[in-house]
Amino acid sequence: MKAAGLQVPVIAIDGPTASGKGTVTALVAAELGWHVLDSGALYRLAAWTVLDKNIDANDIAAVALAARRMDIRFEGSRIWLANKDVTKLIRQEHVGNLASRLAPAAPVREALLNRQRAFRQAPGLVADGRDMGTVVFPDADLKIFLVADIHARAQRRCQQLRERGIEPDEQAVLADLKERDARDTERAVAPLKPADDAHQLDSSRLTVEETVAAVLSLWRKLQRSG
Ligand code: DC
Repeated sequence: MKAAGLQVPVIAIDGPTASGKGTVTALVAAELGWHVLDSGALYRLAAWTVLDKNIDANDIAAVALAARRMDIRFEGSRIWLANKDVTKLIRQEHVGNLASRLAPAAPVREALLNRQRAFRQAPGLVADGRDMGTVVFPDADLKIFLVADIHARAQRRCQQLRERGIEPDEQAVLADLKERDARDTERAVAPLKPADDAHQLDSSRLTVEETVAAVLSLWRKLQRSG
């Protein structure tokens, strides 16, 4: 049950890799003047820490401890880890892949849970991830499950890589997305799935602006009815 008016409002935006969640989240938050939680960045920071400190990725207790102890600062669109700007470093494909491999471990998820909830600050939060509506903010005021077909997502990911000056191998990008979808969906703990009360939104044929407008329209409708 939602404690209307008592809690800082949350819009949860979950969905698979490269569904456009990050962009949509940032634009919805900017429109509302709310805070943003990029929860994937926390998993990427944990993965980066494992690589940087040479921690055995199979030693889940050590990984969880390192994740709990990370000294993180989010400043606008920049992310700092122990005073080092890691914004670009954590976006590398191999870091995302390791994040997806560490993410099924319950102790790692537990280590990041309260850090994620701490982002819930007035006037509101737009939270982007896989389990925002199911586990981290089950009482979110609005839950969106953003999907897009795998070819649309692969094209977007290739476009992102080109913008970074990397010429993508399209088949490899597609295979990587499939593999990551399977891992995120099939894990036992907090798998990628829509909450029962989530609105499913397919962005395959929508522009970013249309997707943002659809989320804002659902939010405004909710406010009028509440
Ligand atoms: O959204 P992203 O690609 O930056 O996330 C990287 C990985 O982190 C993703 O493959 C799975 C994991 N993740 C998760 O398990 N739960 C979240 N709420 C966010 C990300």
